[in-house]
Amino acid sequence: MDKLQISGGVALRGEIAISGAKNAALPLLCAALLTREPVTFTHVPHLNDIGTMLRLLEQMGVKVAREAGKVPGGTHSAGAGDTVTLDASALDNPLAPYELVKTMRAAILVLGPLVARAGEAKVSLPGGCAIGARPVDQHIKGLTAMGAEISVEHGYVHAQATRLKGARIFTDMVTVTGTENLMMAACLGAGETIIENAAREPEVVDLATCLNAMGARVSGAGSDVIRIQGVDALHGATHRVMPDRIETGTYLCAAAATGGDVRLTGTSSAYLDAVIDKLMDTGCEITAERDAIRLKAPARLNAVSIRTAPYPAFPTDMQAQFMAINAVADGTAVIRETIFENRFMHAVELIRLGADIKIDGNTAFVKGVAELQGATVMATDLRASASLVIAGLVAQGETVIERIYHLDRGYEALDQKLIALGAHVARLK
Ligand code: EPZ
Repeated sequence: MDKLQISGGVALRGEIAISGAKNAALPLLCAALLTREPVTFTHVPHLNDIGTMLRLLEQMGVKVAREAGKVPGGTHSAGAGDTVTLDASALDNPLAPYELVKTMRAAILVLGPLVARAGEAKVSLPGGCAIGARPVDQHIKGLTAMGAEISVEHGYVHAQATRLKGARIFTDMVTVTGTENLMMAACLGAGETIIENAAREPEVVDLATCLNAMGARVSGAGSDVIRIQGVDALHGATHRVMPDRIETGTYLCAAAATGGDVRLTGTSSAYLDAVIDKLMDTGCEITAERDAIRLKAPARLNAVSIRTAPYPAFPTDMQAQFMAINAVADGTAVIRETIFENRFMHAVELIRLGADIKIDGNTAFVKGVAELQGATVMATDLRASASLVIAGLVAQGETVIERIYHLDRGYEALDQKLIALGAHVARLK
């Protein structure tokens, strides 16, 4: 397994391009199942999760054409040729097998489109992951309300429906992929579906924009009530994946922690208000341009407390990164994680680097220390790994991060981008 070796203490400086959003691209690829016509996506990031989703769709009978995303000279510039065209006209195997789903729980996003398009689906239950049990009961509740016959047997969700019908659905909690699954399924249902308590994440809006370009009739995306008027069929479209706001936030945190001065292009501050507010509270100077963000960090950050919650509040996917910057900030921060039940695994690894962190249930108390010392640490999940990278960049000496396949799931060309910003980083085979 690959490792990442970081020699810390270097302030990040320079400019990099932000890639397409993983959590927008994953549901978007599944939306192609809803039509017999080709759908083209541009600005698709090169990530392991995207590769897994494309393999999953291919074994269902979907034709996948991907334009090489590497520009001459091997360096990667986001957006250059990251184009994927999916043709689901020959869809003949509405199955998502355990061996693929267990590596990427977002595979549950094929459930709604398959029931709507093929009238049936057999999707492995995603199972838990490091950060929590991750149940899909709301996905099942919504599809059942739309008339699907659903049973859960031998670890698989079996769903059938001659044609889904419009329904009024109130999800018990805000669920991002739950909202996305139900929104996609409702596009081909008979009548109007209303999703209340819907997720407001920008990725939900990006998906709705694409669905409407395909001929769907979705309104209210971005608010907590989404209305979908079912239609008989959708047609092809071309859609550009929105920028990755979590990748953006992660590099902003890396620049903040290292006292750097970084400009991120191909992104927008529009979807990161809660994160940018907190970075300004740490003492960073942030300049938002039309499609770029610049951050200049002070010599030492002020500690900032955070509480995660559904969009537009502070995103849970940025919690681990803020624990890393609070580890070296001036003061004590209180971090409350309200979305997932076990999303503090990065804390024990940060403590190995010298951080002063106390965990009490879903609250972490982080007392900033003067400096961290490099050590060997282990990545446990995607955003926890990002937090260890940030800590390694600021720690004195050498940090080696093991199991960095977690990072490759969600951060495109991470080592190249960090090296472009002046970091001393090497990937060890
Ligand atoms: C999406 O996961 C993201 N993944 C996650 O990003 C993100 O952390 C999460 O939303 C919250 O913002 C993708 O978009 C592919 P939820 P999702 O359904 O949809 C509970 C990353 O790092 N719940 O919004 O799976 C659930 O257990 C990943 O990129 C139910 O109980 O999250 C959690 O406690 C990690 N029953 C809460 O709701 C359900 O049926 C929110 O989960 C569904 C969810």
